[in-house]
Amino acid sequence: MSIARRIIPISSGKGGVGKTTLALNYALSLSRHGRTVLIDLDTGTSSVRNCIDTPIERDLYHFFRKGARLADCVTSLDAKLDPAGHYRSFGFVASPKHLIEDIANFTPARRGELIDAINELAANFIVLDLKAGLDANVIEFLPYSNSGLLVFTPHLPAATMAAADIVKAILFRKLRTLFAAGSPVYAELAGLKPDFVNGLLDRVEDVYDSNVHNLDAFVTDLQHALGDHPVFKLVSSAIETFVVNYVLNRFDGVRTSYDSAVKPFVESLAENVSTHLTLLNLGWVVESSKINDAAVKRVPALLAPEPRPRVARVDAAHAQLERLAAEHLPGKAARGAEKARAPAAAARPRASQYLDVQLDTLRRMYDDMKGANYRENFAYLTARSLHVMASRRTSDFGDTRLFKTSELQQALHDRGR
Ligand SMILES: Nc1ncnc2c1ncn2[C@@H]1O[C@H](COP(=O)(O)OP(=O)(O)OP(=O)(O)O)[C@@H](O)[C@H]1O
Ligand SMILES: [Mg+2]
Repeated sequence: MSIARRIIPISSGKGGVGKTTLALNYALSLSRHGRTVLIDLDTGTSSVRNCIDTPIERDLYHFFRKGARLADCVTSLDAKLDPAGHYRSFGFVASPKHLIEDIANFTPARRGELIDAINELAANFIVLDLKAGLDANVIEFLPYSNSGLLVFTPHLPAATMAAADIVKAILFRKLRTLFAAGSPVYAELAGLKPDFVNGLLDRVEDVYDSNVHNLDAFVTDLQHALGDHPVFKLVSSAIETFVVNYVLNRFDGVRTSYDSAVKPFVESLAENVSTHLTLLNLGWVVESSKINDAAVKRVPALLAPEPRPRVARVDAAHAQLERLAAEHLPGKAARGAEKARAPAAAARPRASQYLDVQLDTLRRMYDDMKGANYRENFAYLTARSLHVMASRRTSDFGDTRLFKTSELQQALHDRGR
C-alpha cells in the first residue's frame, strides 16, 4: 500500500475522553506502516511527554524559542521501551516541560510558523494530539473537508455533544472562508452580495434562531432564493462531501455505546448540522485497567510487554462497512465532487435512517471484534484507517497539509468547481 502522507488530528471538544491515549497508541500502531510523528499540541499540559518514559533533548520550546527545526525536535523511543526495535519509525514532538504562556496559547503568528513546519515535516503520518475545547488552536489544525479523528466515549455523554460541535465549527469555518468578502467565489455569483449568504449563515450558526436551524435548512433556503445557482452547488457540495471519522473510547458494548454516545452524537449532528454528512465509525477501544496502568508507568499501553495481538479480522468487514455507508443514504453512492447532486427535498435522508446506519455499523463491527482486547482494537482501528486512506478520497480523512485561512479560499474555490 503506498500512502504518501497524511496529517491526522485527534480531537474531542471536551477533555478527558482519551485523546492523548488514543493519539499515542494509534501513532505507534501507524508507525508499523510508515514513518509517523506524533505532535503534542496540548501545549499547556505536557501530556504526551508524561506518557512516555524517554529522555527528551528538544521540544516545542526549542522550536519556538531557540530556532530549532521541527524535524530536530522529534524524539525517538528509548531502547528500553522498544527493545526489539519494532517502533523505530515512530517519533514524537513533545510540548514544553513547564507551562510557557505564549507556547501554551499560540499567537496567530506562532501558529502559522508551526503549521508551516508541520507541512514541511518528512513523515507518512503526522498525528496531532489536540487540546480540549474549540478555540483557534484546535480549529486551525483541523482539516476542512473532514473531521480528522474525533474521539468520544459513552462514559462522558457531554463530550459527545462537544464532538458534534467540532463538526459544526469546521463546516462553518469552511463556508465562512468560502464566502468571505473578497473571496474568488463572488466573481461568479452574478450580483449576489456577500451579505446575503453570510446573513443566512449567521442565522444557521445562531442556535437560538430556529428559523434556519441547520445547514440542510440553509441549503433549502438558498435553493428557493437562487434556484440552480453556482453558489447553491458549492454549498451543497461542501456539506455532502464532508466526512466525519470517529472512534469510541472506553467501549462497553453495542447497546450502551449506541445509546450513550453514537445516538446523541448523530442526533446532535442531524439537528444542528446536517443529515448529509458521511459518518464513518472507525472502531473503538475497550475500557482497560492496563491502559490506566500504562499511563502511571509512563509506558504506552501498546509497548507493555504482552503477547502479540491476534491479527484483527478486518478485511471483509471494510468492504461491508463501506457499502453500508454508501447504500443507506440516497445519493451517497453516486456522490462525488463532480456530481454535486441536484437538490430534491424528498430524497433528503431522514435522521432515523442516518441513525440506523450507525447502529448497523456498530453491530457488524461487533461481530468482528467482540472479545477483542485493546491491542486488537488498535490493530483494527489502524487497519480500518489505512483502508479508508487507500480507498476513499484524500479529503475524506485528515489532509496532506494544513491550510492557513489565507491559502484556503483559492484552494476551496478550485476544488469546488
Ligand atoms: N480505554 C481506556 N481504558 C481505561 N482508561 C482509559 C482509557 N482511555 C483513557 N483512559 C484513561 O483516562 C484518562 C484520560 O485519558 P487521556 O489523558 O488520554 O484523555 P484526554 O482526552 O487526552 O484528556 P485531556 O483533555 O486532559 O488532554 C487517563 O487516565 C487514561 O489513562
Ligand atoms: Mg490529552
